[in-house]
Amino acid sequence: MSLDETRVKPHERLAEVLADDLSAVNALIRERMASKHAPRIPEVTAHLVEAGGKRLRPILTLAAARLCGYEGADHVKLAATVEFIHTATLLHDDVVDESAKRRGRPTANLLWDNKSSVLVGDYLFARAFQLMTEPGNLRVLHILSNAAATIAEGEVLQLTAAQDLSTTEEIYLQVVRGKTAALFSAATEVGGVIAGRSAEEVQALFDYGDALGIAFQIVDDLLDYWGSDATGKNIGDDFRERKLTLPLIKAYAAADDTEKAFWKRVIEKGDQQDGDLEHALELLNKHGALEATRQEALAWAAKAKAAMETLPKGELRDLLIGVNDYVVERVN
Ligand code: IPE
Ligand code: IPE
Ligand code: MG
Ligand code: MG
Repeated sequence: MSLDETRVKPHERLAEVLADDLSAVNALIRERMASKHAPRIPEVTAHLVEAGGKRLRPILTLAAARLCGYEGADHVKLAATVEFIHTATLLHDDVVDESAKRRGRPTANLLWDNKSSVLVGDYLFARAFQLMTEPGNLRVLHILSNAAATIAEGEVLQLTAAQDLSTTEEIYLQVVRGKTAALFSAATEVGGVIAGRSAEEVQALFDYGDALGIAFQIVDDLLDYWGSDATGKNIGDDFRERKLTLPLIKAYAAADDTEKAFWKRVIEKGDQQDGDLEHALELLNKHGALEATRQEALAWAAKAKAAMETLPKGELRDLLIGVNDYVVERVN
């Protein structure tokens, strides 16, 4: 490998290897995100889709299917389904989190309004359901429709855990597994299912996606405290929304009485003032909460790697294994 090649991230390399498949997915996304009757729909969807996004989940579906020797074309529909579900949840999530920036742009809820984001999000969910029926595979339909329900459950569980300092790491894991990992695991599992692979291999793909998704969200929660502009999102949203993410849960568990009083004021009461986010960050650092959180992400990434062992060897498997390192090291 040349030096330049070593700089290409594994999912970008996967995008190169699967370039034809991925451009078919992007064309399908463009086709299905349109609407003849409601101009607000293409306005909002184009705003979000043109801003890019990493396309990580559809790349995982394409890679899983090809790794499993799939030679048909239905994986393109499933990959587009997965990205539609993802995009719909982003539209809804930014309303719930009152976020102002996504993919380096003002959010749809800011540029238009909450109503447009919720309704266009619903439209994308409905489009996802249309697409997932098209391969005519009941098992695939089962996996993807279950994932959609699990994501919504995860988001609602997070809502009720927010502001609650007694939230445990166990509940956090339940939230993350639901709101984020469920789509990663469905994305990889359906790749194996349409390829007609054995139950053992399909389970391995599920386990890979599950662990990768958990690592991905743990890192997202880290980046919400110390990330840069590269995230394309506003830093500090989770603190402002009083979310009990892993760094905060760990710092609260190690807090002395004065620190506990601080966390109660800003998280339980929601009485936040200038400088509080900086102080929160100091406390996270003081107790090594960011580093401990990063270690957990690494442990999940290692689990994801281990799950790939039973799958066919080759470039695709190596790249999928490499995605784990990227997920922990990523800055966006
Ligand atoms: C953002 O996902 C939502 C989370 C689960 C943290 P991504 O970071 O994959 O978003 P895009 O698609 O690349 O913008
Ligand atoms: C992930 O949670 C959201 C979804 C799974 C839709 P976050 O709220 O942390 O995601 P970001 O940070 O807004 O992308
Ligand atoms: Mg959010
Ligand atoms: Mg986040």
